[in-house]
Amino acid sequence: MIKIAILGYGTIGSGVVEVLHTNKESIAKRAGDEIEVKYILDLRDFPGDPMEEKVVHDYDIIADDPEVQVVVEAMGGVEPAYTFVKRALLAGKSVTTSNKALVAKHGAELIAIAREQSINFLFEASVGGGIPIIRPLNSSLTADEIEEITGILNGTTNYMLSKMSFEGLEFEDVLKDAQSRGYAEADPTADIEGYDACRKIAILTSLVCGQQVDFEEIYTEGITKITATDIRYAKAMGRVIKLLATSKKTSEGYCAMVVPFLLSGEHPLYNVNDVFNAIFVHGNVLGDAMFYGSGAGKLPTASAVVADIVDIAKHLHKNILISWSSRKMDLVEYKKAKS
Ligand code: HSE
Repeated sequence: MIKIAILGYGTIGSGVVEVLHTNKESIAKRAGDEIEVKYILDLRDFPGDPMEEKVVHDYDIIADDPEVQVVVEAMGGVEPAYTFVKRALLAGKSVTTSNKALVAKHGAELIAIAREQSINFLFEASVGGGIPIIRPLNSSLTADEIEEITGILNGTTNYMLSKMSFEGLEFEDVLKDAQSRGYAEADPTADIEGYDACRKIAILTSLVCGQQVDFEEIYTEGITKITATDIRYAKAMGRVIKLLATSKKTSEGYCAMVVPFLLSGEHPLYNVNDVFNAIFVHGNVLGDAMFYGSGAGKLPTASAVVADIVDIAKHLHKNILISWSSRKMDLVEYKKAKS
């Protein structure tokens, strides 16, 4: 029996419990052992919830319990997630997180600690929700030099832009709708100002260049200035407006930015609508590849988190699965893109 603790019983944390329950038998087979949620850390109580008895309010209980081998961080935000995750890793517990803010800021350090401890720090759900993209970049595409990553990495804004386009609605009307569906972050500023996509492209670029990219250096512009009139003009030109996060290798290093683009029908991301995310990758030997799917929401994100749990279980104390230093490229100078 592998005992895990979940930090945060919100959308993602409860999704993880649901996925573990729904696919209990097949997950146990693939993990090689049953997975049991021993604790859920949250400030709230959940009277009547089937997991009520597992809820604790004190992180010491989890950190100090040697039976807990895996910690699932689903709190979001940098603190206290960073302190809790670091403590778990130092105590020899592998960690999976869906938290892009945490990975974008402290990923390199947390991976290094995990390596020293011969355990894992995995974060497949931090970019693209349920779409596999971290593992492909880290392993399947490791023979390539990645020359471009361009993605629709934020489901909320893609949903909003699609709805504005198909239904002619204004920005404010579609934002409320996206929030009510649970796509948006608690504070939607991170979605609509592009900060969420910025952290995600920083994580992907860090993976391909093998060093922590400073997300604050990435030029970032969201969709708050886009009106129904802009969308109508774009349509009249046969184009759509999409918030793209892009990172391209140049002679000076990688150049990354997050900005709304006008896309014509030939562009591979033109038809990516609704809450879907898609990531276009160009490798110097691979050529083009596209990753497409459910980029946000409770179950897609939980699916990626549980996949990490299964991988951790399979490789417990055996293999380091993710490394940012697997690629040996020349020092990449990170350039702030000009708008
Ligand atoms: N708010 C994020 C999005 C959730 O809309 O894509 C997934 O990271």
